[in-house]
Amino acid sequence: MNTIIAANWKMNKTREEAKESVSELFRLIAGADLPETRRVFVFTPFTCIADAAEAAKANPKLLIGGQDVYPADHGAFTGEISPAMLRDAGARWVLAGHSERRHIIGENDDFVAEKTAFALQNGLSVMLCIGETLQEREDGQLKDVLLRQLTVVANNLKSKNLVGSLPQTFAVAYEPVWAIGTGKVAGEAEVLDAHAAVRSILEDLLGPVGKQLPILYGGSVKPANAASLLKLDNVDGLLVGGASLEAKTFMQIVAAQ
Ligand code: PGA
Repeated sequence: MNTIIAANWKMNKTREEAKESVSELFRLIAGADLPETRRVFVFTPFTCIADAAEAAKANPKLLIGGQDVYPADHGAFTGEISPAMLRDAGARWVLAGHSERRHIIGENDDFVAEKTAFALQNGLSVMLCIGETLQEREDGQLKDVLLRQLTVVANNLKSKNLVGSLPQTFAVAYEPVWAIGTGKVAGEAEVLDAHAAVRSILEDLLGPVGKQLPILYGGSVKPANAASLLKLDNVDGLLVGGASLEAKTFMQIVAAQ
């Protein structure tokens, strides 16, 4: 399985800044001796996708993605963006259900499932983000939340016959909400436990395909904790917010092993 190190820039960077960052990352990757299976994704603001994709295009292991997508081809959906528009700009991947979309913008499980299936049906690969709030963890609901979030998506994918192609086009990012942007990284035991739960739920819901899907960890990943996180069972990559904004810092995470 590939190891995916993904940058989520959130609402940061102008086009010029994005071009500079991706070009620098490109140079750093070209000069580094990365493991053969390592892949690097950068989820940029919509306005930066085309410039970032242009800067990344000569390296097939460096892919650009969007941070969200709407489940329709076109029409009266003010402020939204379609899979075809993202692909046209140069995006290959898209995030679905990031915790900031769920908790700040108010997206629910059904909507996340709908956009996941629609993006896959329309030529984008999807990184589905899941994770529990602090309250849910303290109430002992971690596994129930993961099961609920994954079941809605898996049922939707099954009903649309999308499961067969998932190993190449789908990844799950486990991001405990309380660890995002807070500096509180989940402890090793917590990450192992949550990732084992995600793996077993994926296998229960999707059969053998569930074994082949990359599960990334996200939430306050930094150069100092990247290598130890990547060594844990069922951690197949990292999704990085704050520490991905500066190319040199992010590169230390990309190269961690
Ligand atoms: P963080 O964000 O690394 O800044 O905690 C992670 C994310 O939101 O994907």
